[in-house]
Amino acid sequence: MELFRTILELQQALTADRSAGLTIGFVPTMGALHPGHLSLVNRAGVENDRVVVSIFVNPTQFNDPSDLRNYPRTLDADMALLSTCRCEYVFAPSVDEIYPVPDIRKFDFGSLESVMEGHFRPGHFNGVAQVVSKLFDLVKPDKAYFGLKDFQQYSIIKNMCSMLKLPVGIVACDIVREADGLAMSSRNTLLTPEHRAIVPQIYSTLQNALKEAGQFRPEEVRKHVIDRINSLGLLQVEYFEIVDELTLKAISSWEQKGTKVGCIAVFAGKVRLIDNIVFAK
Ligand code: PAJ
Repeated sequence: MELFRTILELQQALTADRSAGLTIGFVPTMGALHPGHLSLVNRAGVENDRVVVSIFVNPTQFNDPSDLRNYPRTLDADMALLSTCRCEYVFAPSVDEIYPVPDIRKFDFGSLESVMEGHFRPGHFNGVAQVVSKLFDLVKPDKAYFGLKDFQQYSIIKNMCSMLKLPVGIVACDIVREADGLAMSSRNTLLTPEHRAIVPQIYSTLQNALKEAGQFRPEEVRKHVIDRINSLGLLQVEYFEIVDELTLKAISSWEQKGTKVGCIAVFAGKVRLIDNIVFAK
């Protein structure tokens, strides 16, 4: 496994691989790696000859400066975890390497970004699209791997690839959870013990919502989820929406065609967690 800090080093290695006819799988991350990330790396290893993992805390996607400041940065531990997987190249550039001049590009994802994460984190997806489009251009992967934990991000990235006609296969990977159901996240390490003890109730409430779907209308299920989590005292729901998986528009009836996904964002103190669950088709 090689660690590259510069675009030049990364591209020298990848150009040689590409001319040898090897396929390249890419996993973009912001580091503070955990088994959720590693599931993407392992899948990339099964499906490609070369695996590239980027570790870059992208400043342009943080709308909250304290979130950017507090984001865990653990490169040594990340390298140790990656050495347990098949990963040939780690790309961990500086901010100047990626943004030698400010990126002023504006992406328009229409209604996909006006809801949920896009609504509550203005500019977030523009920053994600800026960095992912740059990284795709540098790495030129055959396939890139994204977790369904960030369901809206996955939709936006797929949309961006269609819009820009990028020849990258986007692979969706299932959510990896702790034994108690909490979706793994780099931010979990920032939780207080008190919050850590209660946050598994986010997923158990989502699972309960699946059971309620036969009995109650979507709007009622939505309200039950929000009330239940807020009533725990320590958690504050920012949003819970049951949306169509393709349009991300809130559904009004279970009879609507297509897969429905319940997406939630919750504050546990200052730590913001997201999760989602798929309702039966
Ligand atoms: P980050 O939060 O580090 O996540 C990197 C990838 O790991 C994302 O595709 C995310 O969905 C996936 N992932 C995180 N937790 C997961 C879990 N519990 N189960 C499955 N997959 C999980 O997402 C980003 O970074 C950034 O926005 C990025 C795409 C790298 C652009 O900066």
